[in-house]
Amino acid sequence: MNSVWLDTDPGFDDFVTWLLLEGLPGTRLDGVSVVAGNAPLEHTLANALKISTFLKSGAPVYAGCDRPLVAEQVTSQHLLGESGLSSNGRTLPESTLRARPEHAVDALALHLERTPLTTVVAIAPLTNLALLLRRAPHLARKIERLVIMGGSSDGGNHTAAAEFNIFADPEAAAVVFGSGVPIHMFGLNLTRQVLVTRRHAETLRATGTPAGELLADHLDFYLQIRDPQRNAPMPFHDPVTAVFLARPDLFREVPAAVEIELQGRLTRGMTVCEFRVPRKAPPTAMVAVEADSEGVMAYVMDRLLMFCG
Ligand code: BDR
Ligand code: CA
Repeated sequence: MNSVWLDTDPGFDDFVTWLLLEGLPGTRLDGVSVVAGNAPLEHTLANALKISTFLKSGAPVYAGCDRPLVAEQVTSQHLLGESGLSSNGRTLPESTLRARPEHAVDALALHLERTPLTTVVAIAPLTNLALLLRRAPHLARKIERLVIMGGSSDGGNHTAAAEFNIFADPEAAAVVFGSGVPIHMFGLNLTRQVLVTRRHAETLRATGTPAGELLADHLDFYLQIRDPQRNAPMPFHDPVTAVFLARPDLFREVPAAVEIELQGRLTRGMTVCEFRVPRKAPPTAMVAVEADSEGVMAYVMDRLLMFCG
């Protein structure tokens, strides 16, 4: 069994990613570290504990960093609501679970020490990962691959230049992308190809099951971020990372030297991707540039419908 670790700030697209990572063939989800991002840590942690209960996950949940390394804290609460995980109807029940007492960075370090190799899926600001790589740089070699939803080779969402997860903690992203860990970057240039629509919400609702209706109500809210009528498709950001673990054949990646802009007045948090050949700098990441969009959404819906029963 290949070990997988999830670093997250749930978020509806984080919720779906976690669902997909449960029971992925040949893998075991060994831990979930939570970080501030979509909302402050008190909310993202509460959301994670509710998701864990709902999914009957066996993975321990750890609270990580409650603020970026250096940057002023930003959240997506203006889009996602106060909790970061809003719904148009049914909500996840309260959880009686507690986070484990260890700090997420300590827990991940211990896990990496004890495990031959781990795939880390990071779908949030990279604060926890940066701290880990600063505290225990020797553990970089225990990360088989770091699959990140973050950045973009082609325009941002939080600002014109920067994607939210990177903008929220650019110094952390710079540490991570400079660490030498094998990175697979799934940025907005890729996730804008993988669109979730009203039709997907209707399919989930049509199951008539409590889980299908709950997912559909959350997806309805997610679709309203862009269009109150829910007629515009939305990029389904985080789940592509989980699909990549199961179906790498659905993506095309290109090596690139990715650097994080830390200075620019308009471009802070931008992931500058050097694709030029001949190379001007050694590659630091495999950057996903193309998805079989239909194939990715078919995989996601199959798994969601299977979960709904
Ligand atoms: C990323 O930001 C968050 O709002 C989403 O969960 C995703 O991780 C997209 O920019
Ligand atoms: Ca996220």
